[in-house]
Amino acid sequence: MTGSMKGLVLAGGKGSRLRPLTATGAKQLMPVANKPVLFYALEQLVEAGITEIGIVTGETADQVRAVVGDGSAFGARIAYLPQEAPLGLAHAIRTGERWLDDSPFCMFLGDNFLMGGIADHARQFVDSGARGQILLKRVHDPSAFGVAVLDESGRVVRLVEKPKERISDLAVIGVYFFGPEIHQITPTLTPSARGELEITDAIQGLIDAGYEVQSSLIAAEWIDTGKKDDMLEANRLVLGSIQRRIDGTVDEASTLVGPVIVEAGARVLGSTVRGPAVIGAGATLVDSYVGPFTAIGPHCVLDGCEIEHSIVLDHSTVRHVGRRIADSLIGREVVIETSPLKPQAIRLMVGDHSVVDVV
Ligand code: G1P
Repeated sequence: MTGSMKGLVLAGGKGSRLRPLTATGAKQLMPVANKPVLFYALEQLVEAGITEIGIVTGETADQVRAVVGDGSAFGARIAYLPQEAPLGLAHAIRTGERWLDDSPFCMFLGDNFLMGGIADHARQFVDSGARGQILLKRVHDPSAFGVAVLDESGRVVRLVEKPKERISDLAVIGVYFFGPEIHQITPTLTPSARGELEITDAIQGLIDAGYEVQSSLIAAEWIDTGKKDDMLEANRLVLGSIQRRIDGTVDEASTLVGPVIVEAGARVLGSTVRGPAVIGAGATLVDSYVGPFTAIGPHCVLDGCEIEHSIVLDHSTVRHVGRRIADSLIGREVVIETSPLKPQAIRLMVGDHSVVDVV
């Protein structure tokens, strides 16, 4: 029975690795296959029978609230829990403590993307009677994550946040299950070197207090969508399983190949779209090529250009660019075009922390 379990979804934090796209916008609202990455977490919680969900918010609270609403669109009841400052994941649990009451809960980081959902893990946690459960994934660069050290029998003995030395290659992914006992631990924590109350320290505290913490090594793909290439990879994974659906207009001169979604109000004119790809609502493609693993956001205009393995956010325009665009993450209301102005030059107005590769 996962019915009494609550969900605690974290949608605060800064998103510094995705600047400038997240300079003003919430990283959890970055689209994967034209849907905010946060929505996948909410859908997976509901799919696991967890419909009482608290979203911990930060500076971008208004945006998150505007997009997610009261949760009825997801079949959930959503409470918003403002965090006074981004003081860490364990601090987020403190923020939610009163709302969580004595319910067991699943904490899901709103920028983490997990294929295959959480229903099996939720059931396993409830059935086991353990007071904590973490999911582990083998990674190449453990220094970017919290890691777990297991003993010979597979029990978690130690957790270390962003280890400098390689003590384990088992990253702790951003989906955790806790009983109310965690609230005995979080008030006792002190800030780490980065000034945060670390979730790894909280889990370590549970173990040290003698509570059972289970772990399971997951085979499913997991992505912490903090960087451009991670966003592209999550996009690739979701698009890899879409079915063709054409709700917009495709003219006679256009060719669609493979799984392609053309949303309502989108127009594909004299263009080729080779799926898997999604063309957002109200977008227009003219004399263009959209290649595999590309998500074109709502109300974009592509004219005389080629693009593949990329994400373009809503209301952007790409016009007559002489070379194919690939492996790119393009923000909102961006304009990329060939200019007739002399002198012939690349003219840029690019935000802080942008990366532009020119050939
Ligand atoms: C956080 C956690 C870390 C975990 C990671 C998963 O890291 O502190 O233990 O492995 O999420 O995405 P952060 O994103 O705060 O660097």
